[in-house]
Amino acid sequence: MIQLDQRQLGATGIVVPPLGVGVWSWGDKGFWGYGSTHTRDDITQAYKACLDAGLNFFDTAEIYGGGASERILGECVREDGRSVIIASKFAPLPTRLSAKTLLDALDASLERLGMATIDLYQIHWPYTFLNTNALMDVLAQAVRSGKVRAVGVSNYSAARMRQAHARLARHHIPLASNQVHYSLLYRKPEQNGVLDACRELNVTLIAYSPLEQGLLTGKYRPGNTRVAPVVGPRRFIPAFRSANRRKREPLFQVMAPIAEAHDKTIGQVALNWLISKDPCIVPIPGAKNLRQAQENAGAIGWRLTDEEFNKISKAAVL
Ligand SMILES: NC(=O)c1ccc[n+]([C@@H]2O[C@H](COP(=O)([O-])OP(=O)(O)OC[C@H]3O[C@@H](n4cnc5c(N)ncnc54)[C@H](OP(=O)(O)O)[C@@H]3O)[C@@H](O)[C@H]2O)c1
Repeated sequence: MIQLDQRQLGATGIVVPPLGVGVWSWGDKGFWGYGSTHTRDDITQAYKACLDAGLNFFDTAEIYGGGASERILGECVREDGRSVIIASKFAPLPTRLSAKTLLDALDASLERLGMATIDLYQIHWPYTFLNTNALMDVLAQAVRSGKVRAVGVSNYSAARMRQAHARLARHHIPLASNQVHYSLLYRKPEQNGVLDACRELNVTLIAYSPLEQGLLTGKYRPGNTRVAPVVGPRRFIPAFRSANRRKREPLFQVMAPIAEAHDKTIGQVALNWLISKDPCIVPIPGAKNLRQAQENAGAIGWRLTDEEFNKISKAAVL
């Protein structure tokens, strides 16, 4: 078992490993190709490998795979029996006209997960017509009901997360986390005030797409013929176009020898860079199978040197 330097989930008292596991792809056919690129059996193996490595913090959402991700995660938890920390999310869809709809959505998530409590319940994205204060008041109600242990937000700007934090403080509830896109190829949280606000307010920054949806593993580098071409909607994302893939070569050329020096992969270096950046950051890479889960788990239990960290930071242009 890898020795983990555990991290605090904001000021909630909940302790998590420095790396979580995102399970959007578990059961999601449309974007991630569940059923063709990975099966239920792959997921069971990935799940067990994560727990074997001490990674017991899983992130799902009611909209992932139309609820399939929550269902499969719940099955994995029951089949395996080990103790885990579960995060899920409320989707503020335009059809949800009042913050109170969160309480029904929460019940539906609990039912799909087969659990009585969700450890971290997050607002998936801000939505102009659902008032932030009203949403925080309903989240506080969810905490008081015992169905939720801690609350977070996702895709919130620094200003909106400060507002959420202040409103929850009225209920004596800490804002546990803001889950935002953050990777070596997407460093906006360093510029838009979100990382600074997380540090200042003691809020965990949960970094989603930390491998830039597979790009930061290096497997889609130009000329790599061993890897199947990207299928599904990802191939329409500008970052996956071949011209753009070539632009990232200078970064990979800096990362490759550093990875080799630690007997690690480029993907493991990309995750370790985020973990090394700040103790308030917890990346949540997705893994579709045993091999990916084991490789991602190998991103912890060691550390980039300061010099290596700085070299990579410089090569990953802001
Ligand atoms: N809050 C939000 O709005 C939001 C948005 C996006 C994601 N998320 C959360 O963040 C989690 C992670 O983000 P993500 O899934 O978008 O992207 P990611 O973690 O950057 O990339 C995951 C994908 O990369 C590939 N991969 C992962 N590990 C690999 C390895 N070791 N070797 C080779 N390929 C590997 C797999 O896809 P292939 O094998 O197909 O290449 C995998 O599905 C999600 O599961 C979800 O929980 C949240």
